[in-house]
Amino acid sequence: MRASVRRLFYREQDKIEMTVTNKQRYRFSEAPIWNIQRKYYEEEGLKAWNNDQVPQYITCNPLIAAAYAEMIFGLLQDRANKGDNSEPVLIVELGAGAGRFAFHVLHELCQLIDYVGIAVPPFRYIMTDLAMNNILAWKKHPALQPFIARGILDFARFDAVHDTVLNLIVSEATIRKGDLKQPLVIVANYFFDSIPQELLYVGEGQIYEADVFVEYPERSDSLKPSELLDQISLHYEHRRAPEYEQEAYPYRDVIATYREHLEDSHILFPVTALTCLERLNQLSQEGFLLITADKGDHLLENFKFAEPPELILHGSFSLTANYHAIQQVLQQNGALALFPPHHYKNINVGCIIHMNTPMDYSQTRLAYRRFIERFGPDEFFSLKEWVDRNLDSMELQQILSFWRLGGYDAEFFIQSTKQISSLLQDANDEEQQDILQGIQLLWSSYYVMEQRYDIALEAGLLLFEMEMYEESKRFLEISIHEDQEEIVSTVYYCLAICCFELELEEDALKYMRELLKLEPDHEEARALIHRFESV
Ligand SMILES: C[S@@+](CC[C@H](N)C(=O)[O-])C[C@H]1O[C@@H](n2cnc3c(N)ncnc32)[C@H](O)[C@@H]1O
Repeated sequence: MRASVRRLFYREQDKIEMTVTNKQRYRFSEAPIWNIQRKYYEEEGLKAWNNDQVPQYITCNPLIAAAYAEMIFGLLQDRANKGDNSEPVLIVELGAGAGRFAFHVLHELCQLIDYVGIAVPPFRYIMTDLAMNNILAWKKHPALQPFIARGILDFARFDAVHDTVLNLIVSEATIRKGDLKQPLVIVANYFFDSIPQELLYVGEGQIYEADVFVEYPERSDSLKPSELLDQISLHYEHRRAPEYEQEAYPYRDVIATYREHLEDSHILFPVTALTCLERLNQLSQEGFLLITADKGDHLLENFKFAEPPELILHGSFSLTANYHAIQQVLQQNGALALFPPHHYKNINVGCIIHMNTPMDYSQTRLAYRRFIERFGPDEFFSLKEWVDRNLDSMELQQILSFWRLGGYDAEFFIQSTKQISSLLQDANDEEQQDILQGIQLLWSSYYVMEQRYDIALEAGLLLFEMEMYEESKRFLEISIHEDQEEIVSTVYYCLAICCFELELEEDALKYMRELLKLEPDHEEARALIHRFESV
């Protein structure tokens, strides 16, 4: 969850003294907050996602990834139906962050292609980010190695503010203007809300820029980026900006819509996002498919009388994305924009087919209808919030259903093991088998984050409670090998019992001795060792 919400103060009539040395005036998109934000991501690397400082669950869980995999698979089928099966389709994820989303998409997409068994074009997924530290960490992440080895995953440092080519790190290829013969798939989650935007104000049919005055705290040089963002003060002042209304302005039509339909409203205007999409568009001869999720409205009604934006702090900060402008600009170029017909609560997922004859892309459109519009990541997250609050009163079948719905998500498993454990005494064989199957599926698609959860330990203990000794032993041994420093005596005890049950007496004694090193007075262990040694 967003850690704190901070109001930006707007004072239209304020006569802020420019003589005060620690206050300066900027266009919003050029304010220093953006550089502080870049510094934050570049310095923190994957640690930015520890303790959910920067939230990731909502945009990176297996359910949203599966929905994207379905849309990408839809596009591959649509291209196959057009007879374009030989050239590879590139999928570029902007600001791929912790990397968990990309892993789940690749896992699901490969499974879909294998399951259906029809010929589709080859694909390559390119994880990109501004922060080189992220890229270096993805490159050596164990879960990504099989995809790198198959040649379907590559990486690039791509700065959305100005980069024009993709320099791929593994293959060392460079993708330049016009190189791609298939449409480019662009994925952007929690991204357009994190890159610079213009801040405009509409009043009496005229456009103003809302300039920002930045006031730094004392000794700001000594602060970390996250502390500085927390302590900096921002105030706004309007400045008439007729250049947005002129014929030559590239997004004049969208601005005209705002002038006509809005009054006394603030608008975050996504010039950087639009130019970034245009730069990426140039790479392909066939256009692009944009799949994107964010806090951001595509309906004009939500802009009416909008207050100045809120800077939402979470180590870095984010605003909201202006999907209305992105949609309108791309539609003017002939694109088909798919957004839900209902209102979103936490995350708005859009799919924009920016290609010739977009209605031809029926499998892509169907996938959007089935996996986003009908029931998608936003609905799932609302349910997840309810489940988080009510887990203690949920029954085993409800927990299993929700776990299955969420694609056997590791985080939900960690959250629910205590409740599952408390329900085990009434669980029948079938339910216990389903728990085992869930654990196996989870493990086959588990992406370890910088902040580790000991999934193997939790799985091993639960399986031990279900007297599934072979499987329990497997997971508990994985757990002790992964974290040799923090092994608790219970794990050795459970391992010893598993080994006794499996008639592996040598191993059982070995684990009992390890247990006694940690807990020399453990009477049961002493007695068991004594019994076996005296036989
Ligand atoms: C809020 S995080 C979202 C991460 C991920 N997509 C997710 O949903 O969890 C924003 C990401 O964009 C990256 N980023 C910020 N500014 C960028 C820029 N100008 N160009 C490329 N990436 C940028 C950050 O490093 C970070 O990984």
